[in-house]
Amino acid sequence: MQLNIDKIADSIRAMPPESPVCAYLYDLSALQRHVGALTAKLPANCEMFYAVKANSDLPILQTIAPLVTGFEAASGGEVHWLRRHFPELPLIFGGPGKTDAELAAALDLNVELLHVESIGELHRLAWIARQKNKQVKVLLRINLPLDPALSTSLSMGGHATQFGIEPAQREVCLAFLKQHPELNCQGFHFHLLSHQLDAQAQLQLIDLCFQQTKNWCRAYGLEHAMLNIGGGFGINYREPSQQFDWQGFSDGLKDLIVRHNLETWKIRLEPGRYVSAACGYYLAQVIDIKHSFGRWFVICQGGSHHFRTPYAQGHSHPFKVIAKDYWPYPFKRYGVEQTRITVCGQLCTPKDILAYDAAVTRVRMGDVLVFPYAGAYAWHISHHDFLRHPHPEHIYLA
Ligand SMILES: Cc1ncc(COP(=O)(O)O)c(C=O)c1O
Repeated sequence: MQLNIDKIADSIRAMPPESPVCAYLYDLSALQRHVGALTAKLPANCEMFYAVKANSDLPILQTIAPLVTGFEAASGGEVHWLRRHFPELPLIFGGPGKTDAELAAALDLNVELLHVESIGELHRLAWIARQKNKQVKVLLRINLPLDPALSTSLSMGGHATQFGIEPAQREVCLAFLKQHPELNCQGFHFHLLSHQLDAQAQLQLIDLCFQQTKNWCRAYGLEHAMLNIGGGFGINYREPSQQFDWQGFSDGLKDLIVRHNLETWKIRLEPGRYVSAACGYYLAQVIDIKHSFGRWFVICQGGSHHFRTPYAQGHSHPFKVIAKDYWPYPFKRYGVEQTRITVCGQLCTPKDILAYDAAVTRVRMGDVLVFPYAGAYAWHISHHDFLRHPHPEHIYLA
């Protein structure tokens, strides 16, 4: 998705000059174009569910909803939120540690399909389904051993983790399903990793999932398998010009489906980050600039309590400086030129860093820093109330 920093700069200039800038800005028309382009490129038997954990703000969801098959929820809270606002949209529900109350609510709220994480969860779900006299469609979430060369900085599978069912347990789960008609197993679910930047590596992973699923279907006499191949498509925060190649991925996926003869299977994807990251921008105005032991520090209004993404992923987040000419004080405006800076927030911890060793042409007190790719796992993963600073504004541009 193309960033549109000029549109963001225009919005900043349109704000009252005297009001401090501390905001999230979301470009909804760019989001709409992006999601439309993503789904248009997918093979015909693929369906996209947006993983709302990435950003479940209502205007974001309302923009995405008409363009996808449905939403993926990862908690009872998300299921309730989605049903309240999208009574008819297909929902799928996954994630570890679902409580009885969450499982029961999923049944009551017509969640289309649940991704089951363990034999214990199968037992509880069957028990709840029997009590409600309902039949529930499920996929078994499987953890597969993976060549470490295929893993990324955020792997939910491939090795020992709390996610999914390990291969040794698969048979027990399938045997349980055979004896429990209240659970209708449709196939398998894989979400083995996030932050994948390499389309070919993602295809290799999916190739493995296709192969394994075909073997299991043969071994257990499953006829029509549905496969959810998860999300995990990354955003390259370190080198923003080198983003995941969706066109190459979609073409490769088409080839894989043909090669494995899976044109009649339903194949689902549930990406989060790659869908909504690029529509969001975090804006933080420079409050202070100071020198310390040979380095320049730029301190902004806001910080990691609003925008935890750089700390969570351990990167220096890219940003652009938008010059703001308003300077109401009768004293010098401090600034630096042609140097490297560390960008910090207002928190009382040295971990409150958004960018480090970043080259700037010029930045002055009162200028605004714009951090792109802040539409996913940004506000929603941040510790908003630490120090009780005011929350940023949330602005949704048409
Ligand atoms: C089960 C599951 N599906 C989908 C996603 C979305 O992943 P991403 O945002 O990397 O596409 C996640 C993220 O943690 C997940 O755990």
